[in-house]
Amino acid sequence: MRTTSPSNVLVTGAAGYIGTTLLRRLLADGARVIALDSLERGHADQLPREVPLVVGDVRDPDAVRQALRLFDRPPDACIHLAGLIQVGESTLFPELYRDVNVVGTQVVADLCLEAGVPALVLASSAAVLRPLAGVADRLDEDAPVGPESPYGASKLNGEYTLRAAADLGRMATVALRLFNVCGAAYGLAERHDPETHLIPLSLRAAAGELPPLHVFGEDFDTPDGTCLRDYVHVRDVVEAFVRAARLAMHQAASGGCEFNVVHVGTGQPRSVREVITACEQILGKPVPRVMHGRRPGDVAALVANPSKLASLLGIHPDPDLARMVRDAAASLGLLDG
Ligand code: UFG
Repeated sequence: MRTTSPSNVLVTGAAGYIGTTLLRRLLADGARVIALDSLERGHADQLPREVPLVVGDVRDPDAVRQALRLFDRPPDACIHLAGLIQVGESTLFPELYRDVNVVGTQVVADLCLEAGVPALVLASSAAVLRPLAGVADRLDEDAPVGPESPYGASKLNGEYTLRAAADLGRMATVALRLFNVCGAAYGLAERHDPETHLIPLSLRAAAGELPPLHVFGEDFDTPDGTCLRDYVHVRDVVEAFVRAARLAMHQAASGGCEFNVVHVGTGQPRSVREVITACEQILGKPVPRVMHGRRPGDVAALVANPSKLASLLGIHPDPDLARMVRDAAASLGLLDG
């Protein structure tokens, strides 16, 4: 495979947790990057100064066109991260999720096609998958889809949009199904606004910055009764985006505009209890917590089979949970020294 990295890249949702990390990775490669973000939930202060920012919504064709016009020629790739990401919130506001994630992805795909962008990579999610009966199973890319939440449904719809775009034969597309992205890199913080993710919530509860953690369900059909997830370091995740863009560019250049799906996880199941214990060990403090009922939309287990991530993109993500938690804690300023 040709190994040229994209040198001109449009990143939507660039001011988010993954986006700000990805920008550093792309800049380290010498890429020219344009950022598009509505700044409704992103962090403008974490954008590198040298990256031009278009403040706008991916549902707004004018905003997407404006970002695309900032390139002298069509960018090599668009990495589409913009979207809403909370399973629980999506059960309360399904129309909002449909609007932002479904309409937004359609607009981005249409305008990338119109502009002649050859490669489009979507941040999809493990939430598109139908959970398997056996919680020990690892889900590969052929596993049946069957989202349990409006969030998962909206991401699956985005995947279909990318498949249809590739079918036109002018653009190669990749959907990366992200499992539980965590940790931090490049001196950035694992921070969301509002925060809903287990690791930063646990760490900040232990540090006294936040109230006790609610543990959402202890009656799942798993070894310790809490949910199993596949936690993957954001450093490995941004590498997957760069390599997916590279793959799609290569496919488009060689006339084979495919749609590919790749699972981005380590293959290691970790329970909520295990994650809490890891946080306690890293900080040397207990995580105050209260037991709570299940959160709507949560499934017992979601664990990736990472074989295709290795074979297609050459990525072997680091499964070291302690390292992920340590990097998250350091990024939040919670480690001494
Ligand atoms: N959890 C709690 N208490 C909390 C927050 C989370 O017990 O306060 C539990 C959840 O029930 C779940 C686990 O911790 O079992 C992880 O929850 P997160 O909210 O950190 O992550 P999710 O698994 O809900 O979702 C993440 C991404 C989604 C993606 C999904 C795929 O946010 O975009 O992983 O696995 F779809």
